[in-house]
Amino acid sequence: MKIGIMGFGVVGGGVGELIATNAESIKRRSGEEITVAKILDLRDFPDSIYKCFTKDFEDILNDPEIGVVAEVMGGTNPAYDFTKRLLQAGKSVVTSNKELVAKHGTELLRLAEENNVNYLFEASVGGGIPIIRPLYTSLAANELTDIYGILNGTTNYILTQMIKNGASFEEALKGAQENGYAEKDPTADVEGFDTCRKTAILASLAFGKYVNSDEIPCEGISGITLEDVAYAAKFDSVIKLLGMTSRAENGVYAMVCPAILKSSHPLAGIDDVFNGIMVRGEGLGDVMFYGRGAGALPTASAVLSDIIDTVKHKQKHIRLGWSEGEDGYLLDSKTLPGRFYARFKRNGEEPFSGDGFDVITLDGAEYADEFAVVSPSMTEYDFEALLDGPLAKYELLNKIRLVAE
Ligand code: HSE
Repeated sequence: MKIGIMGFGVVGGGVGELIATNAESIKRRSGEEITVAKILDLRDFPDSIYKCFTKDFEDILNDPEIGVVAEVMGGTNPAYDFTKRLLQAGKSVVTSNKELVAKHGTELLRLAEENNVNYLFEASVGGGIPIIRPLYTSLAANELTDIYGILNGTTNYILTQMIKNGASFEEALKGAQENGYAEKDPTADVEGFDTCRKTAILASLAFGKYVNSDEIPCEGISGITLEDVAYAAKFDSVIKLLGMTSRAENGVYAMVCPAILKSSHPLAGIDDVFNGIMVRGEGLGDVMFYGRGAGALPTASAVLSDIIDTVKHKQKHIRLGWSEGEDGYLLDSKTLPGRFYARFKRNGEEPFSGDGFDVITLDGAEYADEFAVVSPSMTEYDFEALLDGPLAKYELLNKIRLVAE
């Protein structure tokens, strides 16, 4: 099978490298040789082992020998238009482009089905971790109920540096960028948008109906301070950025926010650029996925797994079970009960106490006028009422939406 690659950046370069180095095992597993026929990129790569670069998309579209194209350009433009035209031309497309899948996945999957080809996106969530395919194959017999995931390597790396080394946010971000983990614009990582897109993809696949990432409440880690990290540590916990989604009777919940996880929580020990995803199903219980969530070769490995899968299926459409969304399907996350953390300045007021609340204080003169609370389980509406009521006399310094055992 001849393939095309669109975008020869970190991931595209990794795909080229893996095809060259693992040619034998790829052939053994897919049943035929996979060769790169054309690579689309506007830049020049005079030192590459590949000599098939083009700057013109039509060269890939009109090459009748190319059956599968790896779209690893990122962004929605021009990737959306290119992907549509390729699928309509009867070519399968595999991608790491979570932005495109989260935005246009429903339409692109429909187009793939209509043209009896594939649109596969294992690399869009969790980098090298197999998580997308298990949802529509190995776990397909289960009624899934919840997914909790550390889905962004950059923010996990930053938080780990803050927790373990007391590093500043800026120092840690620089390290992530130097290692090629961060998005071009780190806002997408830091403010949770990347996690949000991945959460939307997981929710759409796990529960069968499209969830729009723009509608998922999303909070990143830019408001997390070393003080919050210290209060969490006193509570025997760590702070992680989580994407979560849960099925309810009349729809699904989904949200992205920093979470305070007790050290015994299965996701608490997942550090650095690693991602971890916990999938819960009725009867199945909990299943954990763990591995490198970013970087050239882990992500390329997932892209290639999709290429091999589509070659093995002789290009025939593989059903993922993801259908159109519906108004009202995504439920108001503020009605989902959970525990909340909030940190306050006392300004000389008596410390707070309340039934079911954990009150955390830190040693040291700089913390003498501060405290933090972890509420009992309640809805966000109820917690907001407390902040406006009995807690209103304290100065709110920070609030974290989710505390989990
Ligand atoms: N910027 C992303 C991350 C890359 O840090 O996880 C992988 O999707």
